[in-house]
Amino acid sequence: MKGIILAGGTGSRLHPLTLVTSKQLLPVYDKPMIFYPLSILKDAGIGEILIISTPMDTPRFEALLGKGNEYGLQLSYKVQPSPRGLAEAFTLGKEFIGDDTCAMILGDNIFYGSGLASKLKKAVSEAENGLATVFAYKVADPGRFGVVGFDEKGRPVSIEEKPLKPKSSYAVTGLYFYPAGVSKRAEKLRPSKRGEIEITDLTNTYLKEGNLRVERLGRGYKWIDAGTIESLRAASEFVRNKQKKTGKTVGSITGE
Ligand code: G1P
Repeated sequence: MKGIILAGGTGSRLHPLTLVTSKQLLPVYDKPMIFYPLSILKDAGIGEILIISTPMDTPRFEALLGKGNEYGLQLSYKVQPSPRGLAEAFTLGKEFIGDDTCAMILGDNIFYGSGLASKLKKAVSEAENGLATVFAYKVADPGRFGVVGFDEKGRPVSIEEKPLKPKSSYAVTGLYFYPAGVSKRAEKLRPSKRGEIEITDLTNTYLKEGNLRVERLGRGYKWIDAGTIESLRAASEFVRNKQKKTGKTVGSITGE
């Protein structure tokens, strides 16, 4: 399986911090933010990773991480000329993905949990079987995210992007696993009302076919979208506390 980290955007919610640097290079406690999603792909067993960012910031990521050899990774880079939506990652990454299955993680998403690695590996193997996987996490403000609706048996029946009336409290987190052929699907999507190629539209094509797994990350898991000043601060605090308590590095890409 291939992996993509989407580390673009203008970071407008973090201005002036992000006026001359990328959001995903800001510190989350003791590491640049992008280390955290990188470590997640690594935990999933994915070594070939494409980092997509803006024309201005892509060289900075390359300067920081290089080809990834010292981390046991194979990194490559691609510029997203303008932020046209998350699902564009799969058309920009078409050659990189080839006929392979592909995972995508947002560069500002931080995941933590002791059982996570096995859930990730399961998502990788299910993608080989033609099933997409997304992870859902209970939040207080679901209307800011993609939201999963469930039927009475707890099966996912809908995903709506930033709904005014959310059907549940479960947000779709920024980590997606798709079977082979995802680039072709992404190419067929049309921009939404907000002018973006929506990841939710892409995921919904799998849901409609009955080929989507929605894994809930319940107690014992933590998910933070570190794109606002409050969540960035909360993320730093979370990492600091965990590291002090467990003595283990969160977001390690060196295998320590
Ligand atoms: C994006 C997705 C949304 C998802 C969120 C996770 O939102 O469109 O479905 O829940 O990432 O962070 P955005 O960050 O573009 O507002």
